[in-house]
Amino acid sequence: QTIYLKDYRVPVFLVDHVDLRFELFDDGARVHSVLSMRRNPGSDSADKSLELNGDPLTTLESLSLDGSELAKDAFEDRADKLVIHEVPDSFELDVVTWLEPQNNTRLEGLYQSSGMFCTQCEAEGFRCITYFPDRPDVMARFRTRIEADKASFPILLSNGNDVEKGDLDGGRHFVTWEDPFPKPCYLFALVAGNLVEKRDSFHTMSGRDIDLRMYVEPRNAEKCEHAMDSLKRAMRWDEEVYGREYDLDIFMIVAVDDFNMGAMENKGLNIFNSSCVLASQETATDQAFQRIESIVAHEYFHNWSGNRVTCRDWFQLSLKEGFTVFRDSQFSADMGSPTVKRIEDAAMLRTAQFAEDSGPMAHPVRPESYMEITNFYTLTIYEKGCEVVGMIHTLLGPDMFRKGSDLYFERHDGQAVTTDDFVRAMEDASGRDLSQFRLWYEQAGTPELTVQDEYDRAAGIYRLTIDQTIPETPGQTNKKPQHIPFAIGLLGTGGESLPLKLGAGETEAPTDRVLELTEASHTFEFHDLSERPVPSLLRNFSAPVRVYYPWTRDQLMFLMSHDPDGFNRWDAGQRLAVDVISGLVGETGSEAVDSGLTEAYRGLLADESLDQALVAKMLQLPSEAYLIELADSPNVPDIHRAREKVLGHLATALRDDLLACYQRNTVEGSYEVTPDAVARRSLRNTALAWLLHMDDEEGRTLAESQFEKADNMTDRMGALRALVNSGYEQECERTLNAFYEQWKDDPQVVEQWFAVQAGSSRRGSLPEIRQLMAHPAFDWKNPNKIRSVIGVFAGQNLPAFHAEDGSGYRFLEEQVRRLDDSNPQIAARLVSPLTRWRKFAPVHGEQMKAALEAIRDKPGLSRDVYEVVHKSLAGK
Ligand code: ARG
Ligand code: ZN
Repeated sequence: QTIYLKDYRVPVFLVDHVDLRFELFDDGARVHSVLSMRRNPGSDSADKSLELNGDPLTTLESLSLDGSELAKDAFEDRADKLVIHEVPDSFELDVVTWLEPQNNTRLEGLYQSSGMFCTQCEAEGFRCITYFPDRPDVMARFRTRIEADKASFPILLSNGNDVEKGDLDGGRHFVTWEDPFPKPCYLFALVAGNLVEKRDSFHTMSGRDIDLRMYVEPRNAEKCEHAMDSLKRAMRWDEEVYGREYDLDIFMIVAVDDFNMGAMENKGLNIFNSSCVLASQETATDQAFQRIESIVAHEYFHNWSGNRVTCRDWFQLSLKEGFTVFRDSQFSADMGSPTVKRIEDAAMLRTAQFAEDSGPMAHPVRPESYMEITNFYTLTIYEKGCEVVGMIHTLLGPDMFRKGSDLYFERHDGQAVTTDDFVRAMEDASGRDLSQFRLWYEQAGTPELTVQDEYDRAAGIYRLTIDQTIPETPGQTNKKPQHIPFAIGLLGTGGESLPLKLGAGETEAPTDRVLELTEASHTFEFHDLSERPVPSLLRNFSAPVRVYYPWTRDQLMFLMSHDPDGFNRWDAGQRLAVDVISGLVGETGSEAVDSGLTEAYRGLLADESLDQALVAKMLQLPSEAYLIELADSPNVPDIHRAREKVLGHLATALRDDLLACYQRNTVEGSYEVTPDAVARRSLRNTALAWLLHMDDEEGRTLAESQFEKADNMTDRMGALRALVNSGYEQECERTLNAFYEQWKDDPQVVEQWFAVQAGSSRRGSLPEIRQLMAHPAFDWKNPNKIRSVIGVFAGQNLPAFHAEDGSGYRFLEEQVRRLDDSNPQIAARLVSPLTRWRKFAPVHGEQMKAALEAIRDKPGLSRDVYEVVHKSLAGK
């Protein structure tokens, strides 16, 4: 059941051309597929038989080879495989299958969402449509004819260009699409529905005009502008920064409500989860606007990093995902505040990816094995994969990196390749040796750097010793040291940046350096220092590692106000807050909160000369999830209480500063998603949240009037969230109801309404969660609803999920068992909070384990959930 990288073999047969005809009906769909196939000259297999992938969702209706129907004994039709015993070296295969998209709750292959037909074929969904060699290194040209009722499905879309259309008998019509680029079947897409079309165009750098089209349900017609603008910005940016031009004449985006993931980069026809593409100022928050911009860009960038150059096999998934996340991060940094973007990415990585990397599902960026590939669309593949590409960028510098990416695209255009091919292109273009660096792809686990320093006053030398270790992960022990770019600076007592002289007598020295760590231990000497400096370590989070250094609170406060590296300023504030909060965990008395923290925050709130976007980030206390990640045997309710205590203390001590900050940051004029306006709204809403946290009357008045007057979702949601997390129960109830009444017809807003309650430790108790699930707007078939209630409860409402009596764990167990039959992909993702049972204090861990065992024992458990549960329970 496990698939290994070492077993990779080139395909025995290739597909040159695929001719598809879809007949779409109310009660199902018939798919006629004609494959032009031939033996792969690159394969040394002598096997005469042909194996195609299939899935229980499809029924085989007929099968012919070179025009003659195959006899029953000429092939074997197993549920997930079709074996034809003997085929010639070159042939045409006709396959007819019958599917029931209307009953497809897995949302893989062809399914229906709000009446429209749509597809999701990555990673292995195409086999749910027809029998096919479903692997990314089989690339074929596709021609697709779609037939459906004209009144119900006026819009019929697939990849490439529409080359023919016409009417058929019985009120039906057809459109034929042709994609000139060979592609793996995971990039195939089809959409049929009653959709409105929004058009725009883009003039490319070589002077071609591209038709841009968005297709959405009529009720969403006014929510397309932001995605369309984002798309044009992304197209321009990829030309300017990577020299990549779009290749087809048409680029289409479709929004669907039921979708397992965020979006999909199908060639020329990107399909999006509605929540990741539709926005209006009234219905989407600033964060949603930013997320949409980055996802639209991400899917667009895949056209080169993913489609033109694709993956040889799914072990190479990070080849396209890590690189494309890196590209979309660079894009977002360029569109907004680079420091804030870096903070957001690093915070997510340190909270969630580090947790994954130290748990039972830890795997390398290029895994060696998997049972179900869908479980490997992980933070490690995406986010750590992005960091790995980012480190290459840091080591090579932007110019060499661009030479490397040019070489990669040129050398591998039209091919299905490996992460190793990517690294080799970077090496060949730059002349740098990245052989040790490749360990980042092979070894799982987060490297831990322990930093010690000493200052020799007489010699004027400051020494930094950095030791590196990589913890054991499932199946991997005794790891080799990795090649780590470690960016640093040194600050003098006045806050000035000191020159980093690595040799005595060096005259011109930079104040910023990237040290390269390659051994288990390194000592660096910095000369000509007349006083002991304060080190600024791992600037801009130059590598995805943990850094241990015995910072004093004074040093952290100093860095918070003086470090020229914005990321490290923020990080110093986080470390200080973590230190203060951790010091209070488990304490029940009236231990004081360090006044240094209060004064540091007071300074932040008052200083208008600071970059307000950075201030907005610095004011956010470390999340509970991050505090848990940092702790050994955490007791979640204790961590929650300690954090609440600090929050309450800060809010009380800083009340007047918060009110002043709230008033000062009113955003005048019309709604815009600029870094400054976003920062102001964020600051105001943080101030509001803090005031309501301590049930401040003036805060409540402000929140209620902000809710009333808001002309955008950020402020409306900011006010609602503050009330939900306050003790003002009646006002909260009233506001929640008003919100629902106003927005009940908009699923994307209702999802936010669910999430704000499910994630609240004050409004999201288990009985309240069950009420949300009984609400008419909740829908077991819609992944967004499941995520916004169950996922948010288990992932964000941590004190309730980790309730002492284990009720949160049993609740999740019940939901996973229920979902496993209808949507195993989503069920497997929901299990994730339970997988780290070994980390928690035993009273919790044992109950989490019991929940996992109960899931394991469900009859007919899906492969998706089986893999996660078994790996979590295995081992010591
Ligand atoms: N390739 C998509 C993206 O990251 C993700 C789609 C994965 N879908 C899935 N069901 N596994 O852009
Ligand atoms: Zn992607």
